[in-house]
Amino acid sequence: MEYQHIEVEPLTPTIGATIHGVDLSRPLNDRAFDEIHHAWMEHLVVFFRDQELTPEQHLEFGRRFGPLHIHPAAPYVHDNPELMHIHTDRHSHRNNGAGWHSDVSADEEPPLGSILHLHQVPPRGGDTLFASMYAAYDALSAPMQNWLEGLKAIHRADYSGLYGNHTPQRASPQSTHPVIRTHPVTRKKTLYVNSGFTRRIDGLNAAESQRLLQFLFEHIQNSAFQCRFQWQQNSIAMWDNRCTQHLAIWDYFPETRSGIRVTVKGDRPFC
Ligand code: SIN
Repeated sequence: MEYQHIEVEPLTPTIGATIHGVDLSRPLNDRAFDEIHHAWMEHLVVFFRDQELTPEQHLEFGRRFGPLHIHPAAPYVHDNPELMHIHTDRHSHRNNGAGWHSDVSADEEPPLGSILHLHQVPPRGGDTLFASMYAAYDALSAPMQNWLEGLKAIHRADYSGLYGNHTPQRASPQSTHPVIRTHPVTRKKTLYVNSGFTRRIDGLNAAESQRLLQFLFEHIQNSAFQCRFQWQQNSIAMWDNRCTQHLAIWDYFPETRSGIRVTVKGDRPFC
C-alpha cells in the first residue's frame, strides 16, 4: 500500500514500526484508518508519539477496530471497565505484563489487539518488549510445525490476589486453543502458547506437556524475534495479540509509570 496520510518507520526488519504524521485525537478519515490498519498488520505492533488523547478519544480510536473487550479482573478508571488502568508506583507489589504473554488468551475469544497510552513515564526504564509469533513459528523445523499444528492447549487465568481488593468484572476464564493459529487477516501461521496463560497441552501426559511448553516458552524469547519500545509521555503502543507476545520491564521502582489500555475484542482462534 502506498501511504498518503501517514509515514511508517520500521523499528526492526521483523517487528515494530513508528507511525508519524497522524493526530489520533482528531477523527480519522477512512483512508487514514486503512493505512494505519495496513501498517499494523504488516509490523505487528505500531507506536505513536506525542498523542494527547482524552479517554473518550482513546475509546473512539479503539472502536474503529471493533467492539471493546473488558478485562476479567483488572482495575479501571473513569468508572468505565473498557479503560483498563495500567499503573505501577512505589506502593506496587507487581507490574502488569511482567512475563511474556498475549493478552487474556484464556478467554474463548481473546482480544485481537490492545492500545496502551502512557500518561506518566519514569525518568528511565519501563520499556516494553514485543516478540513476533510469526517469526517464532517460522523458525521451527517443518516436522515440529506439522506436529504442533495438530495440538491444542489449555489456557487459564488466575487473578486471585493480583489486583488487591478490586472486585473482578467476571469469573476467571479458561479455554482450549490451537497451539498454532492462523491469523484471520494475514492468513499467516503463528505460535499461540504463552507462559502467562497456557497451562498444558491437551492429550499429552504431564511430563510431556511440561517439557514441550518449556521448550516453546524458551523458543519465543529469541531476541531475533523482538523489538524493544522506549516510552515517552503520551506515547501509544498498539499490538496485535494474535501474532505477538509482550513483556513489560519493571526496572524503575520506586518511580511511577501510568496509563490506560483500551482492548479490542477478537475471534475464537482457529488453526
Ligand atoms: C500489558 O500487558 O498490557 C502491559 C504492557 C505495558 O505496560 O507495557
